[in-house]
This record gives sequence, C-alpha cells and structure tokens, in this order.
Amino acid sequence: MTQIMPSPADAPTPANEFASMVDDRIEEGFFQVDRRSLVDESVFEAERRAIFDKCWLYVGHESELPNNGDYLAREVVGRPLIFWRDVSGELQVYLNSCRHRGALLCRVPEGNAKGLSCFYHAWTYSSTGELSALPDEAGYGAEFDRTRFSLLSPPKVDVYRGFVFCCFDPDAVDLPTYLGQAREYIDLVADQSPEMEVVDGMHEYSMAANWKLFVENSLDGYHLLPLHRTYFDYLKEAEGSFLDPRKATEAEALGGGHAVITVEGPWARPVARWTPAMGEENKAWIDDQRKDLEQRFGPERSRRIAETDRNLLVFPNLVINDIMGIVIRTITPTSAGQTRIAQWSLATKGEPEDVRARRLDSYITFQGPGGLATPDDMEACESCQIGFQTATEAPWSDISRGIEKERSGEPLAASDEIQQRTFWRHWRDLVEG
Ligand code: FES
Ligand code: FE
Repeated sequence: MTQIMPSPADAPTPANEFASMVDDRIEEGFFQVDRRSLVDESVFEAERRAIFDKCWLYVGHESELPNNGDYLAREVVGRPLIFWRDVSGELQVYLNSCRHRGALLCRVPEGNAKGLSCFYHAWTYSSTGELSALPDEAGYGAEFDRTRFSLLSPPKVDVYRGFVFCCFDPDAVDLPTYLGQAREYIDLVADQSPEMEVVDGMHEYSMAANWKLFVENSLDGYHLLPLHRTYFDYLKEAEGSFLDPRKATEAEALGGGHAVITVEGPWARPVARWTPAMGEENKAWIDDQRKDLEQRFGPERSRRIAETDRNLLVFPNLVINDIMGIVIRTITPTSAGQTRIAQWSLATKGEPEDVRARRLDSYITFQGPGGLATPDDMEACESCQIGFQTATEAPWSDISRGIEKERSGEPLAASDEIQQRTFWRHWRDLVEG
C-alpha cells in the first residue's frame, strides 16, 4: 500500500496558534489554508473579536424602508438591531435592546410605528430613539432623567449608494475609505437605473459548514461548470444558451479583503441585456434601458453595467451577485461549523411587472435556496466540512490557482483564485493581529 506523506513544503511548522493558518508562499507557488481555521471554535471566537467587532457590516438597503416609521428587525452577526426610518425620514440603526433591562424592544420582523413599547415593563421609545414614556415614572424619584435612556446605536452607521452599514469599532475608518475600490463595483450595481429597490421578501437558509467556505464559493469561477452541470444542461435545453468558455473572465483583488469576479454569462440581464428568455414583448423596454444607460454613462461604462455579470465580496461577509438578477447576500457564522445566509433581490424600481417576474424567476432558478445552483453550493460546502474531520491527517486546503499569473502580474481569470487569496490574506492580517 502506498502511503502519501506531505512533503516538507506542504507542512510548515506552526509559529503560534493562528500565524500559520494561511501558508502564503507566492514565490514558491504555494498558497494553502489550514483547515483548523474552518473547524475550530476558538478560531471563530477570534474572528468575532478581530473581524466582526472591527469591520463595517451590512445592515440593509434604504429602499427596504420606503415610508417614515417603517422598521425591520435585523441581526447583524449575532447582534440584534432595529433598522428604522424615523418620523422625519432619517434612517436609524439602533441596538435592539431595551435600555431598562435589555429585553428585545422589537420582537416582530417588520412593521411601521412612530414608537415601540417594550413588552417587559412597557418603556416606550420614539422612532428618533428617545425614551418617550414609561409607567409610573414618579416611582423613580425626582432625579430620574429620561434622556439618559435613549436607544443606543452602533458606534458607526453610514450609507453608500443605498447600502446601509454599521461598525462596532468606534475607531474604524469611515465607510467610503473602508469600501475603497469595492465602491466602483457597488456603483455599477447602483447605477443600473435612477432608482433601485429591494424586492419585497427575502430568502433565509442555513448550512452545516464554515462561513468562509461560502465566501470562497461565492467568488469561485472554477466550480461553475462541474458543480452546476444540471443548471447549464437546463439552460441549454430550455433556452439554447450555454456558458461560453472562450469569453474572457476576470478576477480582481480590490484591497482590504474585497474582491470581484467578472464574467459574461449566457443569461439575460434585465438591466439591459435582452435574451429570448426575457420575452419578445419586453425587448423594446430593455433596449430602451440600454439607450438610457448610454446617455447617462457613455458607451464603455454602459456596456460594463449592462453586459458584464459580477460577484463582489465586500469583506467580510457581504456578497453582491449581479448576474441574471441582483442578489444581496449576507453570510453569517453562528459557530465554526454553522452558517446562516440571508439574501434579497435588488431590482430596477418601476420595471414592468412581466420583467420583474422574469427577473425573479431567473434569479430563483439559479440562486434561490431551492434553485438549480445554491443547493449544489451548500452541498459542496457541507461536503468540505465533513471532509475536514480528517483535518489532523490532511490539514491543508489548496488555494493556489493562478498564482504564477499573480506573481508575474498577468491578468487573472474568474477560475483563478486571487479573489479567495485576497480574502484569506486580509483574514490572516486581522485574526493574527
Ligand atoms: Fe424593557 Fe423593562 S426591559 S421595559
Ligand atoms: Fe455556485
């Protein structure tokens, strides 16, 4: 029987608890990740402190609160929040915890109200955050000062092109600086029409795998054809279209752990790339969208907006898939081996009903939790997680595709892995401190 032993190059000596988890030796053609980083609860605890307490995190899209008083209960990586458009129309993000003894103030997923009353002792807060009423206030004595008990917000809250983020680190850089080069790709999404809106409803699902596996998967062009064969077979059968491997793709590290892949897929893009799947009756409307884009942005930028599909990672856990539909997706760990995914569809405001229906159908067919791709992705991630039970004997995952091109500065393709390497390098920088 042949025993395959790791070569010395495969097995670097750990320098400390975390320092060796990303084995980044680009000059030697090595990039591998220690699978302990994907199974170990102590790593997850370190991530909470080093990543999720420090980075800007996506809360929601401003269009989800169209009317004054609209609110949503949101959980952002373990912290319950209230996302609320106050009575004056300002967006607010509050900690969803009563200032009295901490109970959840908002206990329903959504609603509209000028104020919310805590179910425990009935302290009541206005949408602008003040403690506006409480039972038997006199019982607290003359020194009681309501203004000490306003709702609290995360230390930093900001909006970029409709995307609302918060950050629990008061010393963090501002949001535009944090987003850096990722802004350009958010702009390509936000510019698709004068007004974009999140479609009513969302998908929530979970998987028994580490959150970083799904981050990797969301940027992984290498798995498309082998893993999603059913979908591409269906597309060929139903629409006569196929993913053309001759078309150029791109992968780019955007700094700060952010990354993007760009492809030109076979599916329609409701923004302005018509295919028969969008219906003859919608062709004129989609062509008009394209003309409008050209007027607003000129030929080159409008071509990028209309023709190219992109998957963007905003470090650490926001993915925007701008493909046959636009999916805003958050990837939230609940433990080292469990992940919750929430996703929303972003669309052109005011598009015809039939275009909207086809957009949603196309999106759900590929990326819905019961679609022809997402269950494949879940299965792949969960399969890796099961495979990691051999992590003691087989400790490394390889992420070296395209490393030679990276070294020589050649353009990288979506099937390369610079996008995952840039995520892991930033992860290492933060978790190692
Ligand atoms: Fe909210 Fe007491 S905990 S009123
Ligand atoms: Fe996939």
